[in-house]
Amino acid sequence: MATTPRKKAAAPRRLGVWLFGAYGGLATTLVTGARAIVRGLATPHGLATETELCRDLPLAPIATMVFGGHEVRGGDWAASAKDIHQQNGTLPQALDRALAADLKKLSKNVRPGVMVNAGATIERVTGAHDSHTRTLRQQLDQLQKDLLAFQKANRLDSVVCVNLTSTEPVLKTSPAHRSLAAFEQAIDKDDQKAVRSSSLYAYAAGKLSLPFVHFTPSNAALLPAIRELFALTGTPYAGMDGKTGETLVKSALAPMFLYRNLRVLTWQGYNILGDRDGAVLADDENKAAKIASKDALLPQILGYPLHSHVGIDYVPSLHDHKTAWDFIHFEGFLGHRMSMQFVWQGCDAILAAPLVLDLVRFADLARQRGESGPMTHLACYFKQPIDTTTHNLHAQWQMLVDYTNRHREKSRR
Ligand SMILES: NC(=O)c1ccc[n+]([C@@H]2O[C@H](COP(=O)([O-])OP(=O)(O)OC[C@H]3O[C@@H](n4cnc5c(N)ncnc54)[C@H](O)[C@@H]3O)[C@@H](O)[C@H]2O)c1
Repeated sequence: MATTPRKKAAAPRRLGVWLFGAYGGLATTLVTGARAIVRGLATPHGLATETELCRDLPLAPIATMVFGGHEVRGGDWAASAKDIHQQNGTLPQALDRALAADLKKLSKNVRPGVMVNAGATIERVTGAHDSHTRTLRQQLDQLQKDLLAFQKANRLDSVVCVNLTSTEPVLKTSPAHRSLAAFEQAIDKDDQKAVRSSSLYAYAAGKLSLPFVHFTPSNAALLPAIRELFALTGTPYAGMDGKTGETLVKSALAPMFLYRNLRVLTWQGYNILGDRDGAVLADDENKAAKIASKDALLPQILGYPLHSHVGIDYVPSLHDHKTAWDFIHFEGFLGHRMSMQFVWQGCDAILAAPLVLDLVRFADLARQRGESGPMTHLACYFKQPIDTTTHNLHAQWQMLVDYTNRHREKSRR
């Protein structure tokens, strides 16, 4: 009996996920969590991409993701996960043990990062210093080589880059940042003051057209010059500063006051957090980036200026469990003044890790569909969404729903 030769099933796409700041609390929780989900040891709670929102979209399965990254501290993901378990209790020891081999193997994909113009606090907290032995151009060449080698060694169809490094002090912008030509000149002149590490990471991703997700508030990554590079190389990108806690609640709650025509007079927020991130944010220069990020949305949502303040203090014993207390003073009918308060107690990395996995999948989808430029439909994930002034969480969510609906339609055709 003649048999028709069976068609060989297409091998699933393999997606590389490159994490700048690889052994940090967030990156480690993300990698450990992703492997736990793949091995059936955890549920994908917290991922919007696992809900009806993304039904029938060709999103990369977590099992096809291969992790790698750049880091300036030593160690590996197994040691970092153990440390998180001891400090924070979020990655149970049994899970760390079950995944130790996976984590050790993946850690082979982590390469030494760059440390440029990082500021004294990041140097002190990470214990890493710029050795000034290589020029900016040499460092950039190395970053690109690392990314290409990762792609080749793991036979990856695509790579998404995510910046999860420590929050840098705000970089004072200068003419060197206004155009790609001026920026490249500054690189060639080895002008270290014109860049920070995040600028080099973003530039390396842009040069290789790898989608770039900027999860921190560091302004040095998405400089106009780098955005020009993204446009030139057709690179999709998103940022800045993940919206995971107090600001998420603010952006969901402020519209309520707007809808009911209750005038907000004052919104005071006070955050306490520990961990390495908290230690970095204890420095006023590094904190400035975060505060700008957390404070800007209220006048935009409400449509009028108000008295507001965001405080952030470092409380080491909290580790990754942060607390935010917000006080809202508002005026209603007959000018009567009332108030509300809320307390948000979240674990930073547990809140952020699933968001980063969502962002990676959406960035990869954009790449598959040939989209480029700022991914404004991802605004709901960020405190300072790029190229949109929409901060209202409900409106941002609708932007994402509309985008996924459009893509579902395309997938059906
Ligand atoms: N909920 C959240 O966790 C959340 C929300 C929004 C933004 N963020 C931002 O995400 C970032 C990561 O948060 P985290 O809690 O993991 O902080 P973390 O301090 O634990 O991790 C940062 C990691 O980056 C590494 N690093 C610093 N400079 C580097 C460089 N130049 N190159 C390579 N690696 C470098 C550090 O060694 C560390 O491992 C922070 O900037 C934080 O503000 C986090």
